[in-house]
Amino acid sequence: MDMKNAKILVTGSSVGIGYATAALAKERGAQVFLNGRDRGKLESAMSRLAAPGFCADVGEQSEARALVAAAREAMGGIDVVVNNAGWGKRMTLEEYDPDVALAIWRTNILGVVHTTQASLDDLKSSKGAIVNIASTAALRGYPGGSAYCASKFALRGMTECWRAELRPHDIRVLLVNPSEVQTCFFGGAAERELDPKKLYAEDIAHAICGALEMDDRGFIPELSVFATNPFPA
Ligand SMILES: NC(=O)c1ccc[n+]([C@@H]2O[C@H](COP(=O)([O-])OP(=O)(O)OC[C@H]3O[C@@H](n4cnc5c(N)ncnc54)[C@H](OP(=O)(O)O)[C@@H]3O)[C@@H](O)[C@H]2O)c1
Repeated sequence: MDMKNAKILVTGSSVGIGYATAALAKERGAQVFLNGRDRGKLESAMSRLAAPGFCADVGEQSEARALVAAAREAMGGIDVVVNNAGWGKRMTLEEYDPDVALAIWRTNILGVVHTTQASLDDLKSSKGAIVNIASTAALRGYPGGSAYCASKFALRGMTECWRAELRPHDIRVLLVNPSEVQTCFFGGAAERELDPKKLYAEDIAHAICGALEMDDRGFIPELSVFATNPFPA
């Protein structure tokens, strides 16, 4: 895909991996459309990137539909949906709160369904791409990860099904699995000193944009991104 003038909707792009992806795609000539739930954070991102956006919770179907309609109108179509909005909370089996698990799944699973389903006609006509941001938590479990891992394993399974459904429509469906990335995901201030040996949001943005830039004849179905040597000396 030629990134120049590509029309890219990135969910959860007010900060973190989504923001870095939108910023890099824009730098490479794409039109980008931003999203997040918190209006203040979203408006700050829109002004820093000089890009349009829409405040919506992708876990709510009506809001996801309104987001896609706004992106379509602002960009004149949609070539790529980057399903990045997501969050998690560590809970051991003893601590497990089903309401928290359902809230995670609403964003991380249903949010991806709502946004992609609403964009499908656009993606069919543009022969576009879907990029689902999963995690290495889609590949293996860890203590306290059951609610979040379940959401990302589900996302990985859904991605495989949509890939099979949509390849005959020339739509490329990609899964990206970042390992730990230094964002607000784990809490903490947006502006803080980063460990140069651990992944930055910009590293994941490079992986996403690089995969999208491949000629449409082929595609990379799934890629994982790890820090080379994040281990303490
Ligand atoms: N950081 C990591 O180590 C890591 C590793 C692997 C995978 N990931 C995945 O990468 C993605 C991005 O994570 P990140 O680290 O960049 O997180 P982040 O810094 O916390 O950013 C998350 C973004 O998603 C938005 N968001 C969350 N829930 C939303 C919803 N229901 N509807 C719309 N927007 C929503 C947030 O804004 P609002 O809160 O204002 O809505 C924010 O813009 C997630 O899917 C995460 O699971 C992260």
